[in-house]
Amino acid sequence: MMLRLFVAIALPQPVRIRLSLLGGGIPGARWIPAENLHLTLRFIGNVDEGRSQDVDDALQSVRAPEFELVLEGLGYFGSARAARSIHIGVRRNPALEHLYQKIESALVRSGCEPERRKFSPHVTLCRLHNAPAARVAGFVAGNNLVREGPMPVTEFTLFSSFHSHNAPIYRPERVYPLGMTWGPFEADAEGEDHDGD
Ligand code: 2AM
Repeated sequence: MMLRLFVAIALPQPVRIRLSLLGGGIPGARWIPAENLHLTLRFIGNVDEGRSQDVDDALQSVRAPEFELVLEGLGYFGSARAARSIHIGVRRNPALEHLYQKIESALVRSGCEPERRKFSPHVTLCRLHNAPAARVAGFVAGNNLVREGPMPVTEFTLFSSFHSHNAPIYRPERVYPLGMTWGPFEADAEGEDHDGD
């Protein structure tokens, strides 16, 4: 069976609910329902069962510290006259970039095609179809002070995506904890215990 997979940070329910309540007032917008709001780390796409096992193995090998996340700054993708989606951005976050790089290199080692696009962390709030540019600009300006966090990020999640009537259904397949850097390999890799006497 084929699975459509992506790796993401799941957001706390109160954050998802508050973000979903921003939605409205733009003709042609499809707002993401609260249960589907997430921060994508890596879109993987369709894989068969064997490959999904490889993906899981790769993600299990990722070691990275926990960190805190702040969501702020509204923006859109696409041109000002024809925006495709509106998102909330992420405050500059080296720990998040580090986690992204760990995931990316683990996935590539396991046989995934490298991601060509620059990592641009965001939480998509809506997708747009022929939305009036002035309404998009008004929404972005009117909500630009919205901020969520700092919130702790203690794990990341492999989701599968299924087509359904209105919004897709995202199913968490597996959760990977952060912060467990006590493994014997990690200690060797960090070059610890070599300070002599
Ligand atoms: P987006 O929110 O910026 O659209 C699940 O589809 C998640 O994977 C979405 O959050 C989406 O990001 C992301 N994604 C990245 N590349 C994708 C692609 N080629 N097709 C579908 N989703 C993609």
